[in-house]
Amino acid sequence: MFKNPSFVFTIFGSTGDLTYRKLLPALYHLKHRNRLSEDTVIRCIGRKDYRKEEYIAIIEPWIKKQSRFNFDQNVFDEFVKHIQYIKMEFTEKEAYTTLLDYPIGLDNLYYFAVAPEFFNVITEGLNHVNYLNDFKHRVILEKPFGDSLSHAIEVNRVLSHSFGSESIYHIDHYLGKEMIQNILAIRFGNRMFESVWNHNNIEQIQITASETVGVETRGSYYEQAGALKDMLQNHLLQIMSYVLMDKPDTLSSKDMLIRQKAVMESIVLDDLVLAQYDTNGDTLAYRNEKNVHPNSQVETYAAVRVHLHDGELKNVPIFLRTGKRLNQRATYIKIIFKPSSSNLYSNLHQEVITIKVQPDEGVSLSFNAKKPGTLNTITNVKMDFCQSCILENRINTPEAYERLLDDAFGHDDTLFTPWPIVEMSWKFGETIRSFVSEQKRSLVYYQANTQGPKEANEMLNKEGFEWLDEDEISY
Ligand code: BG6
Repeated sequence: MFKNPSFVFTIFGSTGDLTYRKLLPALYHLKHRNRLSEDTVIRCIGRKDYRKEEYIAIIEPWIKKQSRFNFDQNVFDEFVKHIQYIKMEFTEKEAYTTLLDYPIGLDNLYYFAVAPEFFNVITEGLNHVNYLNDFKHRVILEKPFGDSLSHAIEVNRVLSHSFGSESIYHIDHYLGKEMIQNILAIRFGNRMFESVWNHNNIEQIQITASETVGVETRGSYYEQAGALKDMLQNHLLQIMSYVLMDKPDTLSSKDMLIRQKAVMESIVLDDLVLAQYDTNGDTLAYRNEKNVHPNSQVETYAAVRVHLHDGELKNVPIFLRTGKRLNQRATYIKIIFKPSSSNLYSNLHQEVITIKVQPDEGVSLSFNAKKPGTLNTITNVKMDFCQSCILENRINTPEAYERLLDDAFGHDDTLFTPWPIVEMSWKFGETIRSFVSEQKRSLVYYQANTQGPKEANEMLNKEGFEWLDEDEISY
């Protein structure tokens, strides 16, 4: 008889980009930190016919490249003892009999690192061999959590039936980022910020997630997702809800859900720009990327203007933007204050709080001060807190997937997105898509390696605003 291991972590999609780039390095980090119990099994399921040694030879360079610690061969050798590689056509029901040779754990966690069309297929395959009948079974879903609102609802129905609704973890790795968690601490741990975080003081808020990479090897996936489903509908909305939510009673998932729901219910879409990157010198146009249709109309850039019709930040213009192949990799939030009402000085600048999410992590404040000298001239000065400049902070900051997997292993779902928020995000996504067709908005183009389309600037200029770019990193 097989002895059931205490914990089995099974990854579907083990030869995919996400597993190589994020999941296995995160698991290696957990091993490094002694966070994996001795008999943890990491079951990697893929369609490719690899022997375990071949699979290990493939993942080793990825882990070396992605490791946030100096690569330690001894740790790696111990780490690979946890790994099993199983070749399986996971789209075929009969193939699941293969799993019967592998014992179920007392506690089982599955990671569906595959396209959403396979979520139900895998669940049905596991049921086909009665794999989910005994012991505990939970599942982590990678976004997008469906192809559309109706598909997401259907996936949720099927998975809730097999796993139970509390056992479905929707991962949004932005919630595992240190500075996203810090937003609430900054807002609600400081009277000086809490007291001004409202529509009386704030003129506008801008949230930017700008990437320099293109779609790399993920053309087929991106053709289905585009910037809206890939970034805006999840990562940016999550950041936005942390920036805009009224103070929760506690930080429990229940109280956070109440506040996040209030933000999502109150959001109104005002305007948008969807764009696609085109060639610039020797860079590729999106349409010429691998596995992308030559006439693709998929957006690689999205900028939206929204506002909330309720809450402390009611009616404050909120601008979100994200894009690929832009000229800077940076995610940041700008809280821009209304001009000072003081009549004592002229040439006052608007005060700005910047929360830097990545690559540098920190907070900066721009405000007015007197320029040294005999004249009463005002100058704009900046105070900068760089969290990631401190070595100890860098060492102690787990990478987002590492933190979230560790939480899931420990049955803590606080940083996972609850289904009501997933559903509301889909509804907002549908609102955007209807807006595009009703207003007959067509795709515009921007040159790769630039700041994005001019139309996104015009959207703000109409109101006398402009995007505030993040200074090239000042540390
Ligand atoms: C992923 C998207 O969720 O987030 C990618 O699918 C994107 O397209 C990535 O590049 C960005 O994550 P990060 O952590 O590099 O900002």
